[in-house]
Amino acid sequence: MNRPSLIDMSLNEATAPLYARVKNVIPEIEWPVFAPDIAAINALKRERNAVILAHNYMTPEIFHCVADFVGDSLQLAREAAKTDAKIIVQAGVHFMAETSKILSPEKTVLIPSLEAGCSLASSITGADVRLLKQKYPGLPVVTYVNTSADVKAESDICCTSGNALKVVEAIARDFGTDTVIMIPDKYLARNVAAKTGVKVITWEGSCEVHERFTAQEIRDFRAAHPGITVLAHPECPPDVVAEADFAGSTAAMINYVGDRKPNRVVMITECSMSDNVAVEYPDVEFVRPCNLCPHMKRIALDGILQSLETMTHEVIVPVDVAARAKTPIDRMLAVKA
Ligand code: 13P
Ligand code: SF4
Repeated sequence: MNRPSLIDMSLNEATAPLYARVKNVIPEIEWPVFAPDIAAINALKRERNAVILAHNYMTPEIFHCVADFVGDSLQLAREAAKTDAKIIVQAGVHFMAETSKILSPEKTVLIPSLEAGCSLASSITGADVRLLKQKYPGLPVVTYVNTSADVKAESDICCTSGNALKVVEAIARDFGTDTVIMIPDKYLARNVAAKTGVKVITWEGSCEVHERFTAQEIRDFRAAHPGITVLAHPECPPDVVAEADFAGSTAAMINYVGDRKPNRVVMITECSMSDNVAVEYPDVEFVRPCNLCPHMKRIALDGILQSLETMTHEVIVPVDVAARAKTPIDRMLAVKA
């Protein structure tokens, strides 16, 4: 008979409270695969004075078991600006790590996979923004944070899905204009334009995860699950948002569930969100369509551990680009929530 070794037993003890937290979403048979990396990451991050900033789309073993701060893009940016840690490990995609570096240039920012990109960020370059500014002189450029530092550096203000409407209205007021350029997500731009008198010129970018949802799918969910609450991310096409009960950033969707405790809910967004929220609200029934973000899913426990062990991959933003990109990010952070 195989007896558990002393090492296994202490590992089990160290990670048992964490497993108790996620047992509803991680089968018991999978836990021994995660437990050693979780214990090693939590020990090493303390030793190195590192924090792990994890986006809401991380899988539950990252989100609930090794992250120090979790949230949407806006919350992670705010946290990166104020943490005292020397090292930030970004459990998210590259533009998030760049934002952290820009806000905390004195810190070492690590990303576990250099391939964790974003279809929105890769849809536009700094040169594209310069051409747009030539085409529409004098109009403010509102740039979604899902962009490279080069693109931010050409912009007047950044926004996230959590503050896009407020940012558009604030910058239009500041510039004394009724029109803004909002890049690169055409759907986010159209969803914002539907809620404001400000006219929006946009770009042909889209999120490869959210653009796949259709209005018919939402109607099918409602038919199959009468009374279901539908929450959608504003990167979804406008006809999908129109079918939803509420549209908001990932954090806003989580808050909606926490505040209203619907009996049954479907989150029209990346797959891992529902697992993470289900841990907090076991009495809410989640219907779970599964559109995965292949970029977010490049971040896994073994990569996070390797990042901390080898101090890779360090995210570097050239100083002059970082300085110019910081201005629109700071301007966004100054817009009242
Ligand atoms: P938020 O978490 O800011 O809503 O963004 C969603 C997203 O797609 C990030 O990549
Ligand atoms: Fe980019 Fe969409 Fe993935 Fe977010 S979910 S990182 S917007 S591709």
